[in-house]
Amino acid sequence: MKDISVGLIGFGTIGTGVVKLLRENEELIQKRLGARLVIKKIADVDIKTPRQVPVEREQLTTDVDDILTDPDISIVVELVGGCTHAKTFVLEAIRNGKHVVTANKALLANYGDEIFSVAEDQKVNIGFEASVGGTIPIIKTLKESLAGNNIESVFGIMNGTCNYILTSMTKDGKDFNSALKDAQDLGFAEVDPTYDIEAVDTAHKLAITLSLSYGKRVSLDDIYREGISEISQQDIEFAGELGYTIKLLAIAIRRGEVIEARIHPTMIPFDHILASVNGNFNAFHLIGDASGSVFLYGQGAGMMPTASAVVGDLMDISRDIMAGAWRRVPLRSYRENQIEDIDLLGMDDVATNYYFRFSAVDRPGVLSAISGILGSHNISISSVIQKERKLDRDAVPIVVTTYKAREKDVQMALEEIDRLDIVFGKTTLIRIEDDRLR
Ligand code: HSE
Repeated sequence: MKDISVGLIGFGTIGTGVVKLLRENEELIQKRLGARLVIKKIADVDIKTPRQVPVEREQLTTDVDDILTDPDISIVVELVGGCTHAKTFVLEAIRNGKHVVTANKALLANYGDEIFSVAEDQKVNIGFEASVGGTIPIIKTLKESLAGNNIESVFGIMNGTCNYILTSMTKDGKDFNSALKDAQDLGFAEVDPTYDIEAVDTAHKLAITLSLSYGKRVSLDDIYREGISEISQQDIEFAGELGYTIKLLAIAIRRGEVIEARIHPTMIPFDHILASVNGNFNAFHLIGDASGSVFLYGQGAGMMPTASAVVGDLMDISRDIMAGAWRRVPLRSYRENQIEDIDLLGMDDVATNYYFRFSAVDRPGVLSAISGILGSHNISISSVIQKERKLDRDAVPIVVTTYKAREKDVQMALEEIDRLDIVFGKTTLIRIEDDRLR
């Protein structure tokens, strides 16, 4: 049986999972592949700390060149993370004619263009299933299974930390900080958790998803992004009263030749398919013009779920090697010379439904002043909730939801409303995705 040699750079949690999975399912993998995947070398700055899986001393090195320059190694697995060293290692591996498997979403979202173009020149493949949605086969689904479809929309819960926090706040009444602490203790938060809660991580994943769905180059800065740090318990309770749950959604919608792409906390009806995605799970709801709805759900992080995606890529690339093809499926699902710059709809022109929570004095005429301004900006109200005040001087929350309105109109109306002296502080805005409110 043929041996395919693999070099692993980064022996952390996922690296350990990859070694463990290749060992535990060795026989199964050989039966399916018809070859042996052999981890020839593992490079890490720390080769002393014992891992959860035994490895031979000679497999370990602190020098990446032992992998990058070894002609015997066909596939390099990059699990270092970040963009500095990882970029150098990946480009070097590609230039040395090695196929690469990576879980590094930040690297691909920031430097994908350069990396894919060098890979194309060098005729090597790049597997990156683990970079978006962990174990979920979203990359393969977009590149292969749905290749005959126009992707009409992708709605995704792409960050386990945010989903875990929002679920804990909703179901257990936890406060934001203790829910975040739990997520960090459980090990799926990024090293810098602002990447999770300010939706940077989700933006990386949406950029990759967009590029595969539409064959486009995407600049991260062009994607509208709002995180979850402003979500309060009060808004979660009002959402529940309105029949909604709040999720951090990554949204891509095809609007003819233009693509709408945005990430923000979103209220969705309890019976929406993504509403039941709880805890640290990720999910994708795709609509193809031929396929209709496709739903993918699973662990977006974690040792063995992520290792599953990495090993799947290793097997995919190995199959191509064994078939004598350097790569069967284009890197970004379109042929590289067909990749174009993306034309994104400006956020001002997005039209959706809205939830506003005004904090206002409770006296005659307040509601009509607010609704008057909304009306003058072409914003139609679908419901209003006002709770009774406890004391005369108290501000009361007034919650308003709307039919479809244009973002630009909404921003102008809120600016005007927030200037009223009957309204205190900045109004809370949360977008709603509810097909019933057209
Ligand atoms: N920090 C990420 C998350 C890990 O919470 O989903 C996987 O990319």
